[in-house]
Amino acid sequence: MSAVSEKMGFELPQRMRGLQPTLIRQFFERALPESINFGLGEPDLPTPEFLRNEAARVTLEEQNGYTSHPGIPALRDKIAKQYPHLELPRTGVVVTCGSQEAMTAAFLCTVDVGDEVLLPDPSFPAYDACVRISQGEPIYYRMPAEKDFAFDIDEFRARITPKTKAAVVISPSNPTGKILTEQNFRDIAETLEGTGIWLISDEIYSDLYFNERPHSASEFYDHTIIVSGLSKSLSMTGWRLGWAACKDADLINAIQVLHGFLTVCTSTITQKASLIAWTDEAEAAKEHARSVYRERGRFLVDLFEREMGLHATSPEGAFYTMLDVRSIGDDLDVAEKCLQNRVVTVPGVAFGNEAKGFLRISFCNTEERMAEGVARMKHALK
Ligand SMILES: Cc1ncc(COP(=O)(O)O)c(C=O)c1O
Repeated sequence: MSAVSEKMGFELPQRMRGLQPTLIRQFFERALPESINFGLGEPDLPTPEFLRNEAARVTLEEQNGYTSHPGIPALRDKIAKQYPHLELPRTGVVVTCGSQEAMTAAFLCTVDVGDEVLLPDPSFPAYDACVRISQGEPIYYRMPAEKDFAFDIDEFRARITPKTKAAVVISPSNPTGKILTEQNFRDIAETLEGTGIWLISDEIYSDLYFNERPHSASEFYDHTIIVSGLSKSLSMTGWRLGWAACKDADLINAIQVLHGFLTVCTSTITQKASLIAWTDEAEAAKEHARSVYRERGRFLVDLFEREMGLHATSPEGAFYTMLDVRSIGDDLDVAEKCLQNRVVTVPGVAFGNEAKGFLRISFCNTEERMAEGVARMKHALK
C-alpha cells in the first residue's frame, strides 16, 4: 500500500504528506481465507443483548435527529461522574465518534506547527499520524523491552524540551497489555507540574484490567485530557461511542467546536442506547469481558511457552501480549511467514523500534482458535 500522497494526482497539503495506512491494517487486509486473527484489536465477544435491544427500540420508537454537538446531556453527566476526583461539570465532556475522534481532536486542539509531542515507544500508530496531521513532531520515549515494556520515568524525562507541547500515556497499553502504576503517574505528574505540557491519556482499555483497576492520569495531573469510550469494554467498536473529558474549560470547548465541524454529533441511536452502559447489567458485562480476556491471556502465554518455547509478556489489561521472536528472526519476516500460513499477527515494528523482534498478539479469539493459531505458527516457523 502506498503513501496517500503517491496515490493522488494533486499536491497534498503538508499535513497529509506521507500518511500511510498502519501496518496493522496492511497485514490484516492481506490475510488469506480461513486465517486465525491474532492481528486486529477488536473484541470478538458479542455486544451485550440489552444494548442491542435498546438500540433497536430507540430506532423503531423514536425520532432520531441530531443531538447537540457535544452529546446528550444525560450521557455527558454519566461520563463526567466516571471521574469523581475531577468534579467535572457536564461541559467538561464531549461525546465523540469513538475515542479515535477524541484523540485526533485532542492533538489538533493542543499542537501547533513544530511543537514536540512525547509518545511511548512502542505505541498505537495512530498517535504518530495524529501528531503529524497536527504538524507537530513525534518524539519517542522508550518503554524498554528489557523491562517487559514497563514505564521508565528517566526515559520520559529525558525527552522533554522547551518545545514539548503534549505527551501521551496509555494504560492498559496497546500494544503491550501493561498498566502504569500509581508511582509511574506520580512521577509523570511531578515531572510535568508547572510546565503547561498537556497529558493526553488514552483510557480506552481502562475497563479491561486483570488485577487492580488502573488509575487515570487525571487523578494526578490537572492538565490531562482523557480520551476513552465504550468500544472495547462492551464490544461496541462499530457503534462509535467515545469521549474527551478535561478540567480545562477552554481546551474542552475547543474540542467541542472542532467536533461540531468534524462530525456534528455521534449517532443519536448509539448515544441513547449508551445511556444504559453504566447500569449494573453493564458492569456485569464488563466484568464478564475482564474474566474472559484474563483467562485467555493466561492460556495463550502458557501455550507459546509450552508449544514454541517463546516468551510472551504477561498481560495486565487490554487483550494483547508481546511475543518475543528474536530467537527466530526479524519480526517482519516472522509475521509474513505466519501470514502465509493463515495466521495474522502484527510485527512489533508497527508500534515503534522498541518492539522490533516482537509480534503483537491479540487474544480476541476462543481458546480453540488460539490453539489452532499457535499450532499453525509452530508449523510455519519450525
Ligand atoms: C490504543 C487505542 N486507542 C484508541 C483506539 C480507538 O478506538 P475507538 O475509536 O473505537 O474508541 C484504539 C482502537 O483500536 C486503540 O487501540
